[in-house]
Amino acid sequence: MSRPQLFTPLPLRGVNARNRVAISPMQQYSAVDGCANDWHLAHMARFAMGGAGIVFVGASAVEQRGRNTHGDLGLWHDDHVEPLARVARAVQASGAVAGIQLGHCGRKAGLQKWWEGHGPLNDADAARGEAAWPTVAPSALAVGPGWRVPQEPDTTEVRRIVQAWGDAARRAHDAGFQALEIHGAHGYLVHQFLHPVSNRRQDPYGTDRHRFALEVAEAVRRHWPEALPLFWRVSLADPRDGGFELDETITLVRALQSRGVDVLDCSSGGGISSYPTEGKRIARGLEFNADMAQRIRAATGIMTMGVGLIIDPRHAENYLAQGQADLVAIGREALFNPNWAVHAEIALGANDDYASWPRQYRMWLQRRAPVADPIRTAARDRTLA
Ligand SMILES: Cc1cc2nc3c(=O)[nH]c(=O)nc-3n(C[C@H](O)[C@H](O)[C@H](O)COP(=O)(O)O)c2cc1C
Repeated sequence: MSRPQLFTPLPLRGVNARNRVAISPMQQYSAVDGCANDWHLAHMARFAMGGAGIVFVGASAVEQRGRNTHGDLGLWHDDHVEPLARVARAVQASGAVAGIQLGHCGRKAGLQKWWEGHGPLNDADAARGEAAWPTVAPSALAVGPGWRVPQEPDTTEVRRIVQAWGDAARRAHDAGFQALEIHGAHGYLVHQFLHPVSNRRQDPYGTDRHRFALEVAEAVRRHWPEALPLFWRVSLADPRDGGFELDETITLVRALQSRGVDVLDCSSGGGISSYPTEGKRIARGLEFNADMAQRIRAATGIMTMGVGLIIDPRHAENYLAQGQADLVAIGREALFNPNWAVHAEIALGANDDYASWPRQYRMWLQRRAPVADPIRTAARDRTLA
């Protein structure tokens, strides 16, 4: 039987991922002053121990005012480097590529943590020590009723924000990460500049809505080594809610490629004006938009990473086999099962001797297999019946 494509290595510039399973960036809202801690270390390490090829740290703010919540990770200061370096080392120690996403929430910054409601920070939050802060966006337009109106930076200030992305990329490299992703999706700052609903500027960052995104890519590439891959997260979302028509996405992707972006992380959801608070949720799936990814991949030749409700390993394998994606990212299913990658390998018939498991576990599982595996298979078949 031929090896599943999902479990073939993926060369990315000078980096070699052991397979094509990535763990999607997932912010944990648990940082203090932007610094990673033991939670982030354990959270990330278990995905690497679970066999993923690349493990991405969630959005790390390039500016303090760009944080989604008080608990966001950051890379706006050199003090953030060493705590994140611990995380990167732990991921690499278990054989995965350590990746990190850079982000800036723009007008969607300054929210409560998810478990506190995820609405804009208010007086009650300030009283318990989590005050709101002034936010920034391409134009002084709030996301919607009840949201703070962001400040509109002048052209010089926009250039400073671009530079903050470059500085954060340098810190990501200093921390030892080997893959970097720019968050260009979900209605956050880069997406806000791209979109006519949120960008009404009259300066060159408004007359050319792609300009900010492209300058961010350039600034990051200047500080991120040639030998390391650069990912870009895009929202292949509903055009009514901040998505772009295919032609515009293709134009943007070509420009990003020429600036050194290697992989398009094909996300969806999180529109330009909507958010799952204040009743503004627009009905839409978070499912991987495989057809659109395939068309962009065919038109531009860029590598695509599929993400969104990928649960069944056979579906993941099909995306690769049909040319819709070069790798897949697993999000919530990895929270459910951090061993998703090694389990997927078994499910696809690629590894029945536990060879991909950490050597500290491997022999015990191999020895137990004649007894345990039939029991597990029978239990699974009963569940499926
Ligand atoms: C707890 C949590 C945190 C997330 N944080 C981020 C983030 O920091 N950056 C980002 O681009 N997406 C973030 N996402 C979205 C995921 O990366 C992923 O795209 C989404 O959950 C859909 O994939 P899934 O169906 O496999 O979960 C987050 C999702 C979850 C559940």
